Amino acid sequence: MHSFRYRDGKLHCEDVDLARVAEKFGTPLYVYSAGTILDHYTRLDAALALLDHVICYAVKANSNRAILKLLAHAGAGFDIVSGGELYRVIAAGGDPARCTFAGVGKSREEIEFALEQGVYSFNVESEVELESIDRIASAKNLRAPIALRANPDVDPHTHEYVSTGSRENKFGIALDELPAVYERAAKMLNIEIVGVQMHIGSQITEAEPFASAIKKVAPIVRKLKSKYGIKFFSIGGGMGIIYLRALESGSGKWWHDHGPACAGSAFSIRDYAEAIVPPLRELGIRILVEPGRFLVGNAGVLLTRVHYIKQTAEKKFAIVDAGMNDLIRPALYQSYHEIVPCRASAAADAKRTQEIDIVGPVCESGDFFALDREMPEVHEGDLLAIMSAGAYGFMMASNYNSRPFPAEALVHGDKVSLIRERQTWEDLVRGEIESL
Ligand code: LLP
Repeated sequence: MHSFRYRDGKLHCEDVDLARVAEKFGTPLYVYSAGTILDHYTRLDAALALLDHVICYAVKANSNRAILKLLAHAGAGFDIVSGGELYRVIAAGGDPARCTFAGVGKSREEIEFALEQGVYSFNVESEVELESIDRIASAKNLRAPIALRANPDVDPHTHEYVSTGSRENKFGIALDELPAVYERAAKMLNIEIVGVQMHIGSQITEAEPFASAIKKVAPIVRKLKSKYGIKFFSIGGGMGIIYLRALESGSGKWWHDHGPACAGSAFSIRDYAEAIVPPLRELGIRILVEPGRFLVGNAGVLLTRVHYIKQTAEKKFAIVDAGMNDLIRPALYQSYHEIVPCRASAAADAKRTQEIDIVGPVCESGDFFALDREMPEVHEGDLLAIMSAGAYGFMMASNYNSRPFPAEALVHGDKVSLIRERQTWEDLVRGEIESL
């Protein structure tokens, strides 16, 4: 479900007209739907109802405090990968005791902070990291709760940059090495074994890789439960989304009749639950899931305005005011994002389509949002919505080309609030030191 719909030809987020939001806060602008995020959370929660489970939202997908607060209120725990993310969760009113701390390269400072705050578990990715956590905990006279990250060596059939669960990846510990590392952990005085974790990749659009990873790790979970009394099995995140287009109601019907096929597959929360719940239930242990994209991906859009239409002998370009520095996913992963006009043209006009590249102002040919995309005619000054930009959008933004970070807004029902101010040029140089 998502809450981006045309009403009388005007693209709305819940009950708010997006063109008005753009007028109010300027562009480029990320806009998120609180209702969509909560709907996704509730549906996942319901799908896992037969399990003793905790949904630990993967903060890296979108860490704006307003979103963390929303999810904390809904009952979520958090999957964090840095001291900064833990700091944010606490600042948003989240409970450190519901946080799992993942990542292959935790620093001493981060480990100390997480120990002081009392995180639920450190998800440990190597024996050297385990030793380091033991030493740091010993210096503090504390015991660190840990889960080892298992690398089940399954192919999640996703983009190679976001595939993490096979042997060549830097992540986790191979299944045949895992028992020995647990034995070492059991001998460490400042380590408490509390669980086992895995995460095989992101934007996975079929249930099968999840099921086969669970099948491979389940016998180990059973042994760890009887040997060390572990409390949980975290199966990671990675549920893929369909990179959706805005839905029609009334005019702007063009998108239904002629829109390009949605990227992604028909993977649904039901398929996911049917594949994973029965085998997990048999384990009789608390299950943690770490979804990021599933909760927030289709809950956000990036609004951008067309600066110029440039026609060359070869091609037509719409040059928009957002760039790869604002949303890098198309450039980095060749990912598909639906792009729709915020004002659907009158039916006759809308039927005139064109092939166009939607590009940003950054000085790189990789600065594009769509190539040779068939769209209704786009004009200078038009406001466009780049769909499904709620996850790994703002989070991966940079100041490249000295472009300030965009603003972010959150819609709930008929209300919209600014949840991050747009950076200014002064912000860009703040903290820089000119002289030697
Ligand atoms: N747990 C762990 C240990 C992870 O590394 C990740 C994501 C997640 C959970 C959440 O995965 P999700 O449910 O969101 O798929 N920037 C890329 C995605 C990178 C994902 C990194 N790890 C993108 O824009 O597609």
